[in-house]
Amino acid sequence: MAKRTTIRDLQNAFKQGRKLSMVTAYDAFSARLLDEAGIDLALVGDSLGTTLQGRANTLSVSMEHTLYHTEIVARCSQSTLVIADMPLGSYQCGVNAAVANAIACVKAGAQAVKLEGGARAVAVIERMTGAGVPVMGHLGFTPQSINATSGPRLNKEADVLLEDAQKLVQAGVFSIVLEMVPSEIARAITEKCGVPTIGIGAGPHCSGQVLVFYDMLGFSPEFTPKFLKRYFDFHTGALEGLSRYKKDVEGGVYPGPENSY
Ligand code: KIV
Repeated sequence: MAKRTTIRDLQNAFKQGRKLSMVTAYDAFSARLLDEAGIDLALVGDSLGTTLQGRANTLSVSMEHTLYHTEIVARCSQSTLVIADMPLGSYQCGVNAAVANAIACVKAGAQAVKLEGGARAVAVIERMTGAGVPVMGHLGFTPQSINATSGPRLNKEADVLLEDAQKLVQAGVFSIVLEMVPSEIARAITEKCGVPTIGIGAGPHCSGQVLVFYDMLGFSPEFTPKFLKRYFDFHTGALEGLSRYKKDVEGGVYPGPENSY
């Protein structure tokens, strides 16, 4: 059985200057593929709200959803480090409840949790790390604040971002996601903060990158932000397969003798 990546393995890779790869995973299929591809980190992202549930944003994702998908990803992967993305409301509900929710993620199989926010998240991060739960921060555009930001937007507040990153590091985060941050600001944060930064729309200078499984593999052709690179065209291939199947069924070609008992 493959050895599971640990936080220490990540720190060692970071010290050696090896770039880290993170992709979201929500089910057995994606968990196993990430493992097979040797991806370092599997994020059970609250993007499950948009990708799996077909919602416009991540706001309605619950702890129940997160625990359900975290358990599957942890059980069906062997080597990726599994991080549960704490949903909106699960860590803004008082420090004790936030720590209890983080521990529930660990009991479901996560090795770490991720949560959004800078200075305002410090108290809960300190308590979580104090309870032995590794925490990944998330700065820049934070999708759970989409109503406050009136939609996705590039975050150019260099001083605030750097100060927030330093506060998160003091609170004990092992890594920070930077989402939609100009490359030069992400570079400055990466050079100064001392923990691996994982970028999405934050340029090439981060310590690693993250993409959403469904976006990078071309499940949703209509989603085309500048930062996204498609590594596979699932949509076209799947449509073609489904159309061929329909034609075969209608034409009596499937099932043939080779598919029949
Ligand atoms: O939920 C998610 O997929 C994320 C990544 C975009 C970082 O938070």
